[in-house]
Amino acid sequence: MAEIITNEKKKVLSCIQPSGMLTLGNYLGALKNWKNMQEEFDCTYAVADLHAITVRQEPAKLRAQIYSTYAIMLALGLDPEKSTLFIQSHVAEHTALSWLLSCNTQFGEMSRMTQFKDKSAKHANNVNVGLFSYPVLMAADILLYQPDFVPVGADQKQHLEIARDIAIRFNNLYGDVFKIPEPYIPKAGARVMSLQDPEKKMSKSDENQNAWVAILDDKDTIIRKFKRAVTDSEACVRMSEAQPGISNLITIYSVITGKTPAEVEKEFEGRGYGDFKLAVGEAVADELAPIKAEYDRFIGDKAELERIFREGDMKAERVARKTYFKAMKKVGFVL
Ligand code: TRP
Repeated sequence: MAEIITNEKKKVLSCIQPSGMLTLGNYLGALKNWKNMQEEFDCTYAVADLHAITVRQEPAKLRAQIYSTYAIMLALGLDPEKSTLFIQSHVAEHTALSWLLSCNTQFGEMSRMTQFKDKSAKHANNVNVGLFSYPVLMAADILLYQPDFVPVGADQKQHLEIARDIAIRFNNLYGDVFKIPEPYIPKAGARVMSLQDPEKKMSKSDENQNAWVAILDDKDTIIRKFKRAVTDSEACVRMSEAQPGISNLITIYSVITGKTPAEVEKEFEGRGYGDFKLAVGEAVADELAPIKAEYDRFIGDKAELERIFREGDMKAERVARKTYFKAMKKVGFVL
């Protein structure tokens, strides 16, 4: 028994919203690590489709994006045998637990969430209650699966923090139900900036199409976008604050090739920006090409895709139900 326990892998949970085109930023900042973590951890990954409707969505588009995001997860090499890969809305315990948690979350603490402030300013005509309580649903996503670690980027750190606060409070009031998850900062990860304005994060909502690369872009498009990437004026491939454009490209190249920034500088010593931009474009295109090919295969076979996510949904549900009923019981509900 002791042996079984010590051999047990630590648990990781993360989710991604099905918000249209995923970018190279999503890939290098998060998704590439999801794949790497699969060997070391017991991973649960979901398409957080319920979160998507905190802003207005077109039904047909949302549906297509849910399929597409799930297909991308598979195409990346996430393995449904090793990990649990599911669709959030298919496991009803997420919304159910979020009610229990909502009644144990204070209005005041939610009001401090910076993303709510940003998003409500951006969507001023639709400041709905779901947008406000979104971190509680995210807390439910996490706590249902009792993970040890949650990999999150800077923009989600505050939400993980509140999930921990809610869990600690709940455990204190009702007894131990939830594991308190830790943030996971991956060894190799990157904050990828816009190719057109390296002071801004790479974002698919950027109006300038040359500012971002989609995971599913084809080779020519990727190379063209890198050729057009803004560079700096030192005319050498060197990482420095004075060269945000080149530094961003060095980061991208370095995460993809596994070379350190110093090694990258050395490789391109005495060579111009043009050479370097082409090399980065080619490295990115070569990395993404097999993902796109796999994606095309999965998205072309909806029946198979559905079979895979139904299985993942059931695996997730078994774990989620256990935690949910434990929480219900502790709060005093009759089961
Ligand atoms: N809110 C996250 C985002 O917008 C997505 C998300 C939903 C998530 N539930 C989660 C991330 C649970 C980590 C854990 O990116």
